[in-house]
Order: sequence, then structure tokens, then C-alpha cells
Amino acid sequence: MNLPVSPTAISSQASRVPSVDLYGAAHRGLRWAHATLLLRLGSTSPGDGAQTAQLLADLGGLLDLCTVHLNLEDRHYHPALERRSPGSSEANAETHTQHYAALAALRALLATVGTDPAGWRGLYLAYASFVGEDLLHMSEEETVMQPRFEELYSPAELRQLNEDLVADISAADKVSFLRLMLPAANREGRIALLGPLQTSLPAGAFQGLLAALRPTLCEADFEYLVANLHASR
Ligand SMILES: [Fe+2]
Ligand SMILES: [Fe+2]
Repeated sequence: MNLPVSPTAISSQASRVPSVDLYGAAHRGLRWAHATLLLRLGSTSPGDGAQTAQLLADLGGLLDLCTVHLNLEDRHYHPALERRSPGSSEANAETHTQHYAALAALRALLATVGTDPAGWRGLYLAYASFVGEDLLHMSEEETVMQPRFEELYSPAELRQLNEDLVADISAADKVSFLRLMLPAANREGRIALLGPLQTSLPAGAFQGLLAALRPTLCEADFEYLVANLHASR
């Protein structure tokens, strides 16, 4: 991992807004989901069957989305780097290989954890360590890989690269990602996420999407979103 570990170095690299942000919205959603699930995992009673069943289902869903995210980067971003700078995605790809193995191990833990408090402690610490790894990995992508892409590709090419990646996500996974990305974004970010979909989707389909996403926001934030989506039409 080439990540600069000093907060000053990371901040100086990250204190700018990329014209085409290849990673930001998805990573913000994954960080939000990791933080939320880690807190829930730490505060769940192993003997509470209803609570643990929902938590394990939600955690399994997040592990699946992490796998989809790795696959998408492997299929779109890494080959793009290799086309213009052979070898430049190798370190990142190696981290992906480690993350695929970690995700498989975590899934096995989810399947066997039962109601044993010791098993839950093991799962909690195993997941916390993976979250730590993934946070560092995503920081590296945003502070090291993003500038590398900007050296190699024009903004128009990066926009196309990102659009190709998004087009490769199944409809069901798109909704699942938006359920993380929407609450993770601030109010302006939510308009930026949904505004293009409001334009491109038929009205009925967009209303259905909004209904599916409504539970992810508090009432005030949802009302602000709807009012400003209407205003931006
Ligand atoms: Fe990655
Ligand atoms: Fe990533």
C-alpha cells in the first residue's frame, strides 16, 4: 500500500475537489455502511434472535456490495490504468485479492456465529479489522489512484470511464448502492446523485426509486430532497 500515513500528507493531497470524482460517492456510501454496521455489531446482544438475524442479513448484504465494488474496479478502472501505464494498478489489485479472501472469511463467520458470545466477539473484531483495512484502501484510491487517473486521462475520458462502470451495475445493485450513498451524502450531494436519474428515468420509475429510498432519510432531509429535485427540473 502506497498510502501516505501522515494526516498532513493525506489532507494536502485530498484538499481539492476532482472535476470527475471516480470514487467519492461510492466510497462515502461504503464508509457510512461500515460505520453503521460496526456500531450495530458492537451493541447487539448475541442472544436476541430478532436483532441478530437482521444484523447478519444486513452485514451479509454489505459484504456482497463490497464484492461488487471490487469487481467493478477490477473490470473497469484497473484495465484503464494498465492501458496507459502498465503495472500501475498492480499494488491496488493485490489489495483487492486480499479483500476477496477477507470477505469470504467474514461470510463464513456470519454463517457459523450462532448465539455464542465468544463467537460474536470474534466476528466483531474480525469485521472491525476489515473495516480498518478497507478505510485505508479507499483513502489510497482517492489520494493516490485518482491523481494517477487524472495524469493519464482527460476529464471527458474519465467521465466516460465512470459511466461505463455505472452501466455495468445491475438494477438491483444500483438501488442497494443508492441506499448507502444517499444517506451518506450531504444535501447537495443527494441532489447530485438523483438529479441525473430524475432526467433519465421515466417519471413512474423515478417515483418508485424515490419510494424505495425514502426510509434511508429522516423526514426533513427527504422533504428537502424532493423539494429541490422539483426545483431543479
Ligand atoms: Fe478498490
Ligand atoms: Fe474502491
